[in-house]
Amino acid sequence: MYVLGIETSCDETAAAIVKNGKEIISNVVASQIESHKRFGGVVPEIASRHHVEQITLVIEEAFRKAGMTYSDIDAIAVTEGPGLVGALLIGVNAAKALSFAHNIPLVGVHHIAGHIYANRLVEDIVFPALALVVSGGHTELVYMKEHGSFEVIGETLDDAAGEAYDKVARTMGLPYPGGPQIDKLAEKGNDNIPLPRAWLEEGSYNFSFSGLKSAVINTLHNASQKGQEIAPEDLSASFQNSVIDVLVTKTARAAKEYDVKQVLLAGGVAANRGLRAALEKEFAQHEGITLVIPPLALCTDNAAMIAAAGTIAFEKGIRGAYDMNGQPGLELTSYKSLTR
Ligand code: KG4
Ligand code: ZN
Repeated sequence: MYVLGIETSCDETAAAIVKNGKEIISNVVASQIESHKRFGGVVPEIASRHHVEQITLVIEEAFRKAGMTYSDIDAIAVTEGPGLVGALLIGVNAAKALSFAHNIPLVGVHHIAGHIYANRLVEDIVFPALALVVSGGHTELVYMKEHGSFEVIGETLDDAAGEAYDKVARTMGLPYPGGPQIDKLAEKGNDNIPLPRAWLEEGSYNFSFSGLKSAVINTLHNASQKGQEIAPEDLSASFQNSVIDVLVTKTARAAKEYDVKQVLLAGGVAANRGLRAALEKEFAQHEGITLVIPPLALCTDNAAMIAAAGTIAFEKGIRGAYDMNGQPGLELTSYKSLTR
């Protein structure tokens, strides 16, 4: 089975063709980061305009690289939400038009289900599994008892991990997106600035990063008022360790409590070298739990992951209708219903 995936929820226009939900045939991503950099973040109107310009070219490129045509495609999977509504609409409308014109079934995919299913492009998922989803918009621990089953057992109460990275980086005067910049600086610094860790109430798998973000900003402001210098490398290392400490501790505790066989890392922050290393170290000590970390290119937004999640949804009988809309606040739900 071949599925065409389309992703336009934020600042990458992407199309991919995936075989049987696990094998990438082609995977094309047009990034807009350069256009948003000078504004210090994603500008929704600019994102939509780029998607309009790129979408047809990117889809054609995915077919050209695969050496395939529409008659080879069994389903078209598209990110239905969450994301920027104007951005989502471009992908959703392209998918609907292609589905109608070529008479190919349409499947709507939740962006986070896509991030999680990026792991299946690397290794078969063994259930029960636990996914740590860390992106610019999300920080979630998702328990999966089987394919297409998503139970959110913890989530952020305020900022997402990637959002905290980007905001802290902006205060430090680093270019957008700040995550990779802090990651690089952190490698050269020392964790010698005391920063808080939000563990929240006993046993909670929820996260909170806004207090940490404020603490970093206050540290910078206090230092500048006193005319003191803070090494950006040390601030990065201290901030990064605080984020990683909470993420890794809660993931390890949940993995044990839910007795999972696999831990999956997902989302743009999964590209963080410090987080990858800390998770690898932690799970090397847990017998019976394997850790899967997708390669960097599959951690950030792409359409192969949407095709992979869409394949499972399609197999479970989910079909999108022609009144499908971009849904900025779409909730992650298990694949139970036949139409959504
Ligand atoms: O998943 P993604 O591409 O888009 C969303 O769905 O949000 O994630 C983008 C986020 C940004 O906040 C970016 O700063 C962060 O992932 N990110 C990183 C790294 N690479 C990307 N954060 C920390 N370390 C990195 N190496
Ligand atoms: Zn994403």
